[in-house]
Amino acid sequence: MRGLGIDLGTTNTVVGTLEDGIVLNEPSFMLVRNKDPHRALAIGKEARRLIGRTPTGIRQVRPMRDGVIVDLELARAFLAAVIEQAAPRRWYGRRRKAVISAPAGATPLERRALLEVGHEAGLRKVGLIPEPVAGALGCGVNPLEPRTHLILNIGGGTSEVTAICFGGVISHRSCPLAGEELTEALHQYLREEHQTIVGELTAERAKMGTPDTADGESLVVEGLDAVTGRARLLSLDVGEIVEALRPTTTGIVQTLTACLEDLPPQAISDVMSEGVLVIGGGSMLRGLSQLFEESFGLPVKTAERPLTCVAEGATACLDHPEIVAAFSG
Ligand SMILES: Nc1ncnc2c1ncn2[C@@H]1O[C@H](COP(=O)(O)OP(=O)(O)OP(=O)(O)O)[C@@H](O)[C@H]1O
Ligand SMILES: [Mg+2]
Repeated sequence: MRGLGIDLGTTNTVVGTLEDGIVLNEPSFMLVRNKDPHRALAIGKEARRLIGRTPTGIRQVRPMRDGVIVDLELARAFLAAVIEQAAPRRWYGRRRKAVISAPAGATPLERRALLEVGHEAGLRKVGLIPEPVAGALGCGVNPLEPRTHLILNIGGGTSEVTAICFGGVISHRSCPLAGEELTEALHQYLREEHQTIVGELTAERAKMGTPDTADGESLVVEGLDAVTGRARLLSLDVGEIVEALRPTTTGIVQTLTACLEDLPPQAISDVMSEGVLVIGGGSMLRGLSQLFEESFGLPVKTAERPLTCVAEGATACLDHPEIVAAFSG
């Protein structure tokens, strides 16, 4: 193994190797004992399943928020467990190195924290790559060519719009409206308009169910009647869900507009012909590409593998240190 490509996201953590492709894809959740927060009891799906039912003495934690580390100690324990699962020390010893993706808008301090945590979690060598650059690379774009590429990353915690060209960033904007905010908007809509209270996982499932449902079809949601407290089933039209999410998606459109306004004319002309590349789990939301196309008249390309392209690109960087070097300044 020549190293790991790691996408340490707010919602999902994905790891790849050059030899085997994606080797780990888990929610960024961890269980720790209150007495010993340095060691992960469980990570990923196993840890996420305990939402709303953690026993006393055990804490369910999320070490990343908006793509950056919120607690160094927890992030170290989480990353160490992730690395151990993807590349056990007993096989790879001290040879483990990695390229980790960081939000394009991360501050120098946040980037340093990632590097430190990487070393302390057992990596011998760590490189950082901006998340949109890794995502573009994972979609087959060459970030070093003298042509502007506009990338919109709708992740869990943040939506980021980044224009890159010739190994550098031309403009960047971000907003806290992304996958989790969309789930929350649907949760609130159901409570206010249908007097139905649903769990976070149910609201997310309804949001994610929309792409596979045809127009005019409906989705059934289980919840509690806000007035009587009794369990109830609610049938929701997909169009209604899309409308309920409209204020949030409009906020994402505004961020894209702001980034476009910052671009010089030549870069705009590249973007007009090439379009915008949309990556991240939120890109799969129903009706999103039409909304972007209608709002800007720009072609929209959704990544083929929106949830893993960042880790794929970070992995590809192991073979292309010149890309890491270009974007490290
Ligand atoms: N089919 C789908 N339709 C709509 N949203 C989806 C779908 N699949 C996943 N998502 C959403 O995508 C989000 C996770 O995306 P992703 O894994 O790209 O985030 P992340 O990289 O962990 O976050 P960040 O980049 O902000 O740190 C979740 O909020 C999830 O609900
Ligand atoms: Mg991400």
